[in-house]
Amino acid sequence: MNLCEILHKEELTKGEIIFLLNLSDKSDQQKLFDRADEVRSIYCGEEVHLRGIIEFSNYCEQDCIYCGLRKSNYILSRYRMTPEEIIETAHVISNLGIYTIVLQSGEDNYYDTDLIAYIIYQIKQNTNAAITLSLGERGFDEYRTWKIAGADRYLLKHETASHKLYSVYHKKQKLEDRLSHLRFLKIIGYQIGSGNMIGLPMQTFEDIADDILLCKELDLDMAAFGPFIPSPNTPYQNKSAGDVNLTLRSMAVARIILKNVHIPATTALATLDDEGRIKGLNAGANIVMPDLTPSPYREQYQIYPGKKCINDNPLSCKGCLQLQIESIGRKISNSRGDSLKLTEQVKD
Ligand code: 5AD
Repeated sequence: MNLCEILHKEELTKGEIIFLLNLSDKSDQQKLFDRADEVRSIYCGEEVHLRGIIEFSNYCEQDCIYCGLRKSNYILSRYRMTPEEIIETAHVISNLGIYTIVLQSGEDNYYDTDLIAYIIYQIKQNTNAAITLSLGERGFDEYRTWKIAGADRYLLKHETASHKLYSVYHKKQKLEDRLSHLRFLKIIGYQIGSGNMIGLPMQTFEDIADDILLCKELDLDMAAFGPFIPSPNTPYQNKSAGDVNLTLRSMAVARIILKNVHIPATTALATLDDEGRIKGLNAGANIVMPDLTPSPYREQYQIYPGKKCINDNPLSCKGCLQLQIESIGRKISNSRGDSLKLTEQVKD
């Protein structure tokens, strides 16, 4: 079977996914990106959805081996935003015409069930925005309470579908738990997002194929594939970063397989390559997630170093993204950009 035939198949085998991830010839890669762009256009249209991220605490009780926020990184100075600061920032974001607020933090139980519920409720009172929570693994009862308070979506990356690698990267956590949290979140009505990192130490192309197939099995509403970037003061500080083109190929294959899911052009991709966002949007992505955490906190949310756009103010950030998005004939959406699967259900 030739490349074009594989790119147009309804279902891909794991072997075919690995074949596509391995493409090294520039023109073959371009064919993959073009097909992903076509599938993106069919299922998502030309609108790009912005998700405004507020990184409200960089305290973390976990010790993920690759992450700059890990508990044993004693060099990082830690901060917590007050509920009022978080609610005010959400207001500023929605006034910019960005209709998804992502509340993201390390795993920080300082913000208990009621405090998070209060923040969600207040943001919902003040704005028309959807709320995505990205707080790591919390209690099942907490997920329920926050849903009732108004949360719409939950982002919890599986990071790797390999049990073996998962237990290397996360000494205290289990992949099975993460997956049961994702499945529970979906059952109680959250739109769910997950995904992996590309280029983690010891990861093979077969692992990446398994990651994409797991995203399909989980029936995600959003799937994110971002490159690994070595972070100082972590055990992986001297490892190599993930490859930009392999990340783009992974995103493109994921688009062809997953079809009606949201896929972001990640900040990590933009950090490794100045053209990363545009390249991602041309290889299957339909989402951009600008970091709109206010200063001085933003500089301290150091998951990895050199994060793109760290000094931008919110207004110039939106203008800059708009220019980039319009330069490739796309436009910023004015809607919340809910799950593409929900829209289908309504249509039925
Ligand atoms: N490089 C790239 N992405 C990272 N993340 C954590 N550490 C790194 C790193 N060193 C990602 C993980 C995590 C999210 C918050 O950031 O996917 O889920």
